[in-house]
Amino acid sequence: MPGPSPGLRRALLGLWAALGLGILAVAQEPFWADLQPRVALVERGGSLWLSCSTNCPRPERGGLETSLRRNGTQRGLRWLGRGLRGRARQLVDIREPETQPVCFFRCARRTLQARGLIRTFQRPDRVELVPLPAWQPVGENFTLSCRVPGAGPRGRVPGAGPRGSLTLTLLRGAQELIRRNFAGEPPRARGAVLTATVLARREDHGANFSCRAELDLRPHGLGLFENSSAPRELRTFDSPRLIAPRLLEVGSEKPVSCSLDGLFPAPEAGIYLELGDQRLNPYVTLEGDALMATATVTASAEQEGARQLVCTVTLGGESRETRENLTIYSFPAPLLNLSEPNAPEGKMVTVTCTAGARTLVTLEGIPAAVLGQPAQLQLNVTENDDRRGFFCEAILEVDGEILSKNESAELRVLCELMLTHRPAPSDLQSPAHSLIAIA
Ligand SMILES: *[C@@H]1O[C@H](CO)[C@@H](O)[C@H](O)[C@H]1NC(C)=O
Ligand SMILES: *[C@@H]1O[C@H](CO)[C@@H](O)[C@H](O)[C@H]1NC(C)=O
Ligand SMILES: *[C@@H]1O[C@H](CO)[C@@H](O)[C@H](O)[C@H]1NC(C)=O
Ligand SMILES: *[C@@H]1O[C@H](CO)[C@@H](O)[C@H](O)[C@H]1NC(C)=O
Ligand SMILES: *[C@@H]1O[C@H](CO)[C@@H](O)[C@H](O)[C@H]1NC(C)=O
Ligand SMILES: *[C@@H]1O[C@H](CO)[C@@H](O)[C@H](O)[C@H]1NC(C)=O
Ligand SMILES: *[C@@H]1O[C@H](CO)[C@@H](O)[C@H](O)[C@H]1NC(C)=O
Ligand SMILES: *[C@@H]1O[C@H](CO)[C@@H](O)[C@H](O)[C@H]1NC(C)=O
Repeated sequence: MPGPSPGLRRALLGLWAALGLGILAVAQEPFWADLQPRVALVERGGSLWLSCSTNCPRPERGGLETSLRRNGTQRGLRWLGRGLRGRARQLVDIREPETQPVCFFRCARRTLQARGLIRTFQRPDRVELVPLPAWQPVGENFTLSCRVPGAGPRGRVPGAGPRGSLTLTLLRGAQELIRRNFAGEPPRARGAVLTATVLARREDHGANFSCRAELDLRPHGLGLFENSSAPRELRTFDSPRLIAPRLLEVGSEKPVSCSLDGLFPAPEAGIYLELGDQRLNPYVTLEGDALMATATVTASAEQEGARQLVCTVTLGGESRETRENLTIYSFPAPLLNLSEPNAPEGKMVTVTCTAGARTLVTLEGIPAAVLGQPAQLQLNVTENDDRRGFFCEAILEVDGEILSKNESAELRVLCELMLTHRPAPSDLQSPAHSLIAIA
C-alpha cells in the first residue's frame, strides 16, 4: 500500500514543526510518573504505603505531594530498580474522608505527575438508639430513631462511613422493623440517621428495641463491619382494665375491680374508683408491676339510673382512666294475690298480679294489656281447683337486657265433702284448714 505522497508528507512535517516539539513529545513521551496504589480505602486513622516513582533517568526534583502526615523524614530519591527512581513513603494517621495525593517530577523542564485517591472508612463504633418514651401509651405512635454519628452538615465530621456502604436496621427484638441503606450517597458523607414511627401495642411492653449498623466494604475487598446499639426496653401502658357489672339492682351489691400492669415504678402509682360522683374505697393490692383495686358496690335507691364507674390510674404526672356504664335499677318482684286464698266451691276468686312501673306482668300466660298495669283473672272455684297453682311473671327491660322475676301462689278449696266425711288421700296428709297461699 503506497504511503502519503511526498507533498503531503512534507506538509505534515511542516505542521509538526509549526506546532513545536511539544505535541509530538506528548505523543512520544517516554517519561512518566506513577503512584501506587492509585486508589486506596484505609481505615480512619490508619496508615498506607504509597510508592511514587518515575522512569525519568535524571529527575530534577519531585516526590509525593500530600497533606497527609508521613512517617519519618527521609528525603531524596532512591533507585527502585527496573529503571525507576522514586520513593515509597508511609502515610500515617489518615483521617480525611478523601484526599488526592500527587506524585510529580520535573524531568527535562517538564512536569510529570500522577494523582491518586485515598479514602478512609470508619467502622460503626457508635450506634445509638435515641431513648424511648418513659411511659408509652398503647395505641399511640412513638418514634424510634437510630443515630450513627458523623452525619455532619458537611459530611466531614468523623463517623461511620462511607455512608454509601452503610445500612441501618431498626429492630424489635429480633424482628426487623425497617431497613435502609444509603447507597448512592457521596463517599465523603459519613454517619447516618434512621427514624421510624411505631404504633405501640400492648404486647410491646417489655420489648427490646435496637438498631444495627452494617458497613459493607466487601465490594472494596474489605470486610463487613457490624455493630448494634444497646437495646432499649419499651414500657407501655394501657388503659386500666375495669371489670364491673353492667347492671346492678337497688339493694344488691356486686364486686368491681380495676387493674393495670406494666407500671414503673409501680409503688408510686395511684388507683382510684368512682361511681358517679361518689368515690369508692377500694382495697388496693400491688403485685410486681401490677396494681389492682377491688371494691363492693352497693346500689341505693337514690342512685337509680345510668351511672358511670370510673377507674383512674396515675403515675408520674400522667393518668389513664377507663369508664364503664353501670345502670342501677329497681325491680320489685311481682305480687301475686288471691282475693281469697282459701275459698269454698262456687266462690268467685280474683287472682291479681302486680309489679312496678315499666314492668310487664303475665299471669297464667296472659300478659297485662298495659305496661306497668296489673294482670288479673277470675275463677269460679270448683273442687278441682284445690292446690291449683297460679304463676305470674314480670319482665323489665333495663338497658337492653330483659330481666324477669316470677311469683306463684296456690289456691286451697274449702272442701264440703270433707264435712260430709268422705275421705280423700290428700286430706289425710294435710289438714283442710291449713289453707294458705304459698309464695
Ligand atoms: C513509622 O515508622 C517506624 C519506623 O520505620 C515504625 O516503627 C512505626 O511503626 C511507623 N509508624 C506507623 C504508624 O506505622
Ligand atoms: C460497637 O459499639 C459500641 C458502642 O456503641 C462500642 O463500644 C464497640 O466498640 C463497637 N464495636 C465495634 C466492633 O465497633
Ligand atoms: C401512626 O402512624 C401511622 C403512620 O406513620 C399513621 O398512619 C397512623 O395514623 C398513626 N396512628 C396514630 C394512632 O397516631
Ligand atoms: C429485654 O432486655 C432486658 C435486659 O436487657 C431483659 O431482661 C428482657 O428480658 C428483655 N426482654 C425481652 C422481651 O427479650
Ligand atoms: C356509656 O353510655 C353513654 C351514653 O349512654 C354512651 O355514649 C357510651 O358509649 C357508653 N360507654 C360505654 C363504655 O358503653
Ligand atoms: C290481696 O287482695 C285482697 C283483696 O283484694 C286484699 O284485701 C289483700 O290485702 C291483698 N293482699 C296483699 C298481700 O296484697
Ligand atoms: C259457680 O258455679 C256454680 C256451679 O257451676 C254455679 O252454680 C254458680 O252460680 C257459679 N257462681 C258464679 C258466681 O258464677
Ligand atoms: C322463677 O324465678 C326463680 C328465681 O326467682 C327461677 O329460679 C325460676 O326459674 C323462675 N321460673 C320461671 C318459670 O321462670
